[in-house]
Amino acid sequence: MPTSVEFKDSVLHHIDEFKKIAGDAYVLIDKESLAAYDHDETENLHFLPDIVIKPRSAAEISAIMKICNEHKIPVTPRGAGTGLSGGALPHLGGVLLSMERMNSIVEIDERNLQVTTEPGVITEVLQDAVKEKGLFYPPDPSSRGSCFIGGNIAENSGGPKAVKYGVVKDYVLNLEVVLPTGEIIWTGANVLKNSTGYNLTQLIVGSEGTLGIVTKIVLKLLPFPKYDLLMLVPFNSLEKAGEAVSAIFRAGFTPSAMELVEINALKIVSRFVDSTVVPVTDEMEAHLIIEVDGNHRETLMSEMEAISELLLQYDCGDVFFADDAQQKAELWKLRRRVAEAVKLNGYTIEEDTVVPRAELPALIRGVKALGVEYGFDVVCYGHAGDGNLHIRIKKPGSIYSLNNKDVIPALNAMFKLVKSLGGTISGEHGIGLIQKEYMDIVFDNANLQLMKEIKKVFDPNNILNSGKIFDC
Ligand code: LAC
Ligand code: ZN
Repeated sequence: MPTSVEFKDSVLHHIDEFKKIAGDAYVLIDKESLAAYDHDETENLHFLPDIVIKPRSAAEISAIMKICNEHKIPVTPRGAGTGLSGGALPHLGGVLLSMERMNSIVEIDERNLQVTTEPGVITEVLQDAVKEKGLFYPPDPSSRGSCFIGGNIAENSGGPKAVKYGVVKDYVLNLEVVLPTGEIIWTGANVLKNSTGYNLTQLIVGSEGTLGIVTKIVLKLLPFPKYDLLMLVPFNSLEKAGEAVSAIFRAGFTPSAMELVEINALKIVSRFVDSTVVPVTDEMEAHLIIEVDGNHRETLMSEMEAISELLLQYDCGDVFFADDAQQKAELWKLRRRVAEAVKLNGYTIEEDTVVPRAELPALIRGVKALGVEYGFDVVCYGHAGDGNLHIRIKKPGSIYSLNNKDVIPALNAMFKLVKSLGGTISGEHGIGLIQKEYMDIVFDNANLQLMKEIKKVFDPNNILNSGKIFDC
């Protein structure tokens, strides 16, 4: 690979061509503009691109990719920059391709319950637009008010509703993709079933912008459920809360959300958003946020009652029912802002571990023991119903960086634990730049080699988001 100085020369050499393609106003090279694109939400990592281009169409992206491919210029696609694994960081310099202008919802197809959208639409904007037609797009990452749907495709995002409704991959029917070589393809068809050849659609979903640039997305929608009920249940023991999670499913219930928040995290976020509506009991180790939804209110009420009765066996305290829309919104706000609040409180490095649901208590026990062994505080929260636990660490008096000498062995031990429980490293944030060193804990060489060969077929010159997921 050439050095970043050679990349910069090569990029600047083509600046007039880029301006001709995207328009003068949408090609930026001044330091201040570049700095806005040098980070995402992943710890304190900063990498300046050499140039930022904001294209408006697949045709423009295709023309840009042809130049970059010919001259082997690195390209980093970027959505809203809310990622937590460094996927949108231009660590090699080169071209930063921002999708922010590709922000139209192309069509809501009410006959077929589908939506076609460009990638730069904010997820919540898309959800609200389809909701107006009585339709439902469930995947709802905590950042849904600012993240782009294209970034969600890249990471195969999840969020609280995944426990009942599945993750992004379960809604993607068809994608328009610009390949690194500049060709534009559609990966499938706008149909609910498809056994026609390899499933390129699902290969692109979760490929973290390494195989192609998604320029149009066709998503399946559902009818919007008429009612939902929400409750917050405190538990004396974190592990018991973990045990209660799988008991609820075993008893025949499928909540539409089943989130766990450890008491430290709940206290920090309550102070952070200055919440008084939701009761937080200091003595309790953990809380579960449980939601059920559907079209029959009475059925939901009796489900909630049955669930709360079952939870008594797991040493829970008084249940708080969010009675009205405001209380529900407040409780969800608390949950969605946990990551931001604990990060500001000094808990760094958000992990995204996922294990089979019934192994959750073993995972909680194991990470707490690792905290003691490596000398840091561990805080857990996340999508307990999916077995997807976010874990952050803190050591009073020191800020951990990813390369801290204590962190690497601790993360190795944590991921080995996850693997031994039948789980894996990332449930919804992706591998990106920051977790690739740990891929060989969960994959053997044959798997990694296959992935690298696939990357080569799509991107023979290794220009697109190179060095993410693995090094080629
Ligand atoms: C959450 C994000 C950080 O669950 O994944 O809050
Ligand atoms: Zn999450």
